[in-house]
Amino acid sequence: MSDAPAGISRLFEPRGVAVVGASPHPDKIGNRIVANILAGGYRGRVWPVNPKGGTILGVPAVTSIDAIDGPVDVAAIAIPSDRVHDAVVACGKKGIPYLLVITSGFSEVGNVAEERRIVAAAREHGVRVVGPNIFGFYSVTASLNASFGPKDIRPGRVAIVTQSGALGVAMIGKTAAEKIGLSAIVSVGNKADVDEADLLEYFRDHEGTRVILLYVEGVKDGEKLVRGLRAATARKPVVVIKSGRSKRGAVAAASHTGSLAGSDEIFDDVMRQCRVLRAETVKEALALCKLFASAPAPSGENAVIVTNAGGMGVLATDACEKYGVRLYDDHEELRRVFAPMMPAFGSTKNPIDLTGQASDKDYQGAFRAALAEPKIHAVIGLYCETAMLDVARTTPLLVEADAAFRDGGKPLVFSMYGGERVEQGLAALRGAGASAFDEPYDAVQALGALFRHRAWAAEPPEPEVVPEIDAARISAIAEKARADGRRFLLAAEAAAVLDAAGIPRPKARIARRIDAAVGFATEIGFPVVLKVVSRDILHKSDAGGVALDLDNAQEVVDGFEAILANCRARAPKARIDGVEVCEMVAKGVETIVGARRDASFGPVAMFGLGGVYVEVMKDVTFRALPFGRREARGMLKGIRSYPLLLGVRGEAPRDRDTTVETILRVGAILERCPEISDIEVNPLVVYEQGKGARAVDARILLVEAPGGRAGSGG
Ligand code: COA
Repeated sequence: MSDAPAGISRLFEPRGVAVVGASPHPDKIGNRIVANILAGGYRGRVWPVNPKGGTILGVPAVTSIDAIDGPVDVAAIAIPSDRVHDAVVACGKKGIPYLLVITSGFSEVGNVAEERRIVAAAREHGVRVVGPNIFGFYSVTASLNASFGPKDIRPGRVAIVTQSGALGVAMIGKTAAEKIGLSAIVSVGNKADVDEADLLEYFRDHEGTRVILLYVEGVKDGEKLVRGLRAATARKPVVVIKSGRSKRGAVAAASHTGSLAGSDEIFDDVMRQCRVLRAETVKEALALCKLFASAPAPSGENAVIVTNAGGMGVLATDACEKYGVRLYDDHEELRRVFAPMMPAFGSTKNPIDLTGQASDKDYQGAFRAALAEPKIHAVIGLYCETAMLDVARTTPLLVEADAAFRDGGKPLVFSMYGGERVEQGLAALRGAGASAFDEPYDAVQALGALFRHRAWAAEPPEPEVVPEIDAARISAIAEKARADGRRFLLAAEAAAVLDAAGIPRPKARIARRIDAAVGFATEIGFPVVLKVVSRDILHKSDAGGVALDLDNAQEVVDGFEAILANCRARAPKARIDGVEVCEMVAKGVETIVGARRDASFGPVAMFGLGGVYVEVMKDVTFRALPFGRREARGMLKGIRSYPLLLGVRGEAPRDRDTTVETILRVGAILERCPEISDIEVNPLVVYEQGKGARAVDARILLVEAPGGRAGSGG
């Protein structure tokens, strides 16, 4: 058994490292790993393990794991796949707590059983496995490069966790070229044991890490990842690049909620819920990491654009709107600050336009003034090539401004646009560690991420809300359906589930006689709807079994008689159990509220614009359950049709409180009733504020029976 401390910290600060499969041949992976460890300046002892013994890169090898004579906390295993299991057992017996299984040839090629066998052996000995199928890892804390990637890793404050080996190796090179320093890079490969969430737990508390970048291809344990991300983003920014849509998500799901839920959409929404910055491209992700790692956090919201080109200023202004960067617009103050260095024709209205006549000194003056002004919190510096400016002279001033802003506690981003000489200036600026881009949009996007993280960090965490519902009653309904051989609930059962969950439905009662129907109608309030109740009549309207909009007792009497007569004529064999008297649902905004068990993320809730257009509009949003009221309100705000809930064209605002409550209650059904797999309330008709909402229809599915006995349907 290992004596590893709780958490994973010793992986990053091992007392000694073994390389199992170390080889004297320079073309072998085991050789490269030893070479990288030695070149990286690791201070602990390295133990090459090779059955032939000898010396590898000047270090004496031991012939077996057992022969290691000193403390070792990490073993990199780079031997053929059929020997890995025995090596894992030997490491376990030796008490080595962390294994980097470099070897390929496991679940990624279908060899799932062997991968499980390795993890089982590791667990038996209290050992954690990173991988298999990885290139290794790097830890700045230990100056340890236990990988077969590039030798030169630039130390710094960005931690990268990557599922892709090749891309990870490439990122090591790219980050060094872009002057982005790493605090760690971990290749997680098949994630048979250690996954992103385990590593987030470490990086969250790691002082040397200012920003975490995850490259994710597939999510294995989404609920664990969500918990890890929430905890991590409360401390520091997390950037995620996700490629590849989940195959499981692509399998058509049994309900509308499922069919709408392309798993990538769920991923996107859940990342936002976790306050994670999702990057579309590796370039964007690295740019964000560079800025987060080096720039001070803005102390307020006011940004200023300094430019020598009106057009670029306008582009940047558009970008500010898109990425939520607030431009400081106190014109008096702006004039006071910038007028002294403004050339003729210039403008002090943000963007601060120094004009095409701008000189180096004008830029310098504007940056200094912005840095000195406490009401300005961030600056976007734009530089367009002109005949008036010599980029070779200006660039050092921009580098100087960048350093001054860093020291002065304000973020500064640049965009430089022009020909070859400008490209050289841009490279020099980047080389000096600045966040500099050619496109103004890219510069503003990076700054926008800084502001977004600031806003998220300012939000106090909110408690999760899982309302009390009658879960026992719902379970009983589910059991009965299951006993009937069904995986779906009948309309009456679904209605009973909504009642048990406290979700408002149109008021309804079943009458067997005319006088009772009239009594119920009076109790419910006119107008009402009558519907035949018969398990033998599936299409009620076709059988003449529905009467709408009945305004008084006489109309109820007539409607009742007409329904019975129609049904007897059109479906003579049908058993009629009665007539349902229902509240007539008034017009309102039709929404959809759902919840399902996602293959990746576990229980998720959905909200969107409902009714018949739901599949066309696909205006829906998802959240991982459970969550609080603020998050549920965020779901309302997150759909494009949100203005309909606010009330358009003089309409009164809709009852958002009831909508939020309904989302939480639908979520609670999934949280509290393990038998239920999918719920879809569509439409939930939402009335004016204070007048509530009505769940008009609901489809509810049960989880697959353990034996897979009951088929789906409905
Ligand atoms: N303990 C210690 N050393 C052992 C051993 C054991 N149980 N079994 C074999 N070795 C030694 C070998 O003798 C050899 O040393 P040598 O060169 O002195 O003979 C060395 O370990 C390597 O074994 P070898 O059989 O030569 O394998 P290899 O180096 O050709 O390949 C892997 C091994 C792990 C690299 C290969 O199986 C593999 O998985 N490659 C893909 C790795 C990858 O791409 N990972 C994902 C990256 S993202």
